[in-house]
Amino acid sequence: MSARALSAERLWARLMELGRIGALPGGGVNRQALSAEEIEAWRLLIGWGAQAGLVPSTDDAGNLFLAWRAGDTALPPVMAGSHIDSQPTGGLFDGAFGTLAALEAVIALKESGHRPCRPVLVVAWMNEEGSRFAPGMMGSEVFAGRRSLAEIRAVRDAQGVGVGEALDRLHAAFPQIERRSPGFPVAAYVEPHIEQADMLEASGAVIGVVSGIQGKKTFEMTIVGRQAHAGTEPMVRRSDALQAFARVACAMQAQMEREDEAVRFTIGRIEVEPNAPSVVPALVRFCIDLRHPDNGVLDRLGRRLEALLAEHAAPCAFEARRLVDAPSNGFDERLRAIIGRSARERGYPVLDLLSAAGHDARQMAALAPSAMIFIPCRGGLSHHPDEWAEPEHIAAGATVLLDVLAELTSP
Ligand code: GLV
Ligand code: MN
Ligand code: MN
Ligand code: MN
Repeated sequence: MSARALSAERLWARLMELGRIGALPGGGVNRQALSAEEIEAWRLLIGWGAQAGLVPSTDDAGNLFLAWRAGDTALPPVMAGSHIDSQPTGGLFDGAFGTLAALEAVIALKESGHRPCRPVLVVAWMNEEGSRFAPGMMGSEVFAGRRSLAEIRAVRDAQGVGVGEALDRLHAAFPQIERRSPGFPVAAYVEPHIEQADMLEASGAVIGVVSGIQGKKTFEMTIVGRQAHAGTEPMVRRSDALQAFARVACAMQAQMEREDEAVRFTIGRIEVEPNAPSVVPALVRFCIDLRHPDNGVLDRLGRRLEALLAEHAAPCAFEARRLVDAPSNGFDERLRAIIGRSARERGYPVLDLLSAAGHDARQMAALAPSAMIFIPCRGGLSHHPDEWAEPEHIAAGATVLLDVLAELTSP
């Protein structure tokens, strides 16, 4: 077993400090992508990196890298990290754990006298969550060449602010750090994360070796009716977009409940126009998040949802756009074996499991050998202010990452 140790106290203290940026009164954080809070969080990370001699840089997609420029700098780096943006009422650990675990693992390796044969990069990806700017994973998708910079720059938030302007503001806040075009060769990518489900907790395991990520489709659907006076327009003459939405939503929910229990179907956002008490609604726009581990089933259910919209929207007009169409992916066998062995050698109970949540590692898997290390979170609760991970599990996940990074950078 490796004698190397990291500072569990420093890692925990930093997680709590990062959690104060965007802290909500009742707990949890609101630190959405490219916000003033995320800029403040960048400053904190860059400062911690600088104390340890890590060099910050960014790219046009707003990803943040902290580099340990060691070994043969002509070789592609090993990369580890996650994201520091959150849901509007998010928890302290989703993304923050993986990013700070990577920072701590690199600092501890450096302090231990380890001499890596190639550079090591800590990364914080831009807009994993996709709550302010939908869909998410923008930074990693552009980095992996799966979406263009122009496409993400054109996306707007609910206030009409574009990703382009918000990115320019972010970069203007850090004029001194080097910036390059997104995407460069990476030797391997490892992302630690809280599980966001309760399989580890239920089985008593401390480390999850993630086999892959289940597939996901995101739809943005729009129903267009006819605005009218709520007191005068006879019911039979109405094209009420909200009533049409209600029919569509009920039909979809009923259908998805009849499918197998692996289906995850959510309508998480709905906008109504003009959203006034005495006006027959003219328009409803809503987002559907659909997930399933079997790509064939996922495709079939996606087509079924589009058909149900068409069947139940009448007399309103309708449109469906697919924002995300991501099939299930599998992670690198060799990296998974290294993670499992490192965990067992440290004495942590291990479970192999599929990730039900989405992560930037899905994009990186298309570019480089990639894998994920999961730790338990209390009750499996996530995307919630009460999200919680135990300090000893935080330390365990980061320690496994440290061992994995040591192995990947040993000559
Ligand atoms: C967002 O956090 C997701 O899991 O898709
Ligand atoms: Mn996350
Ligand atoms: Mn999340
Ligand atoms: Mn996620």
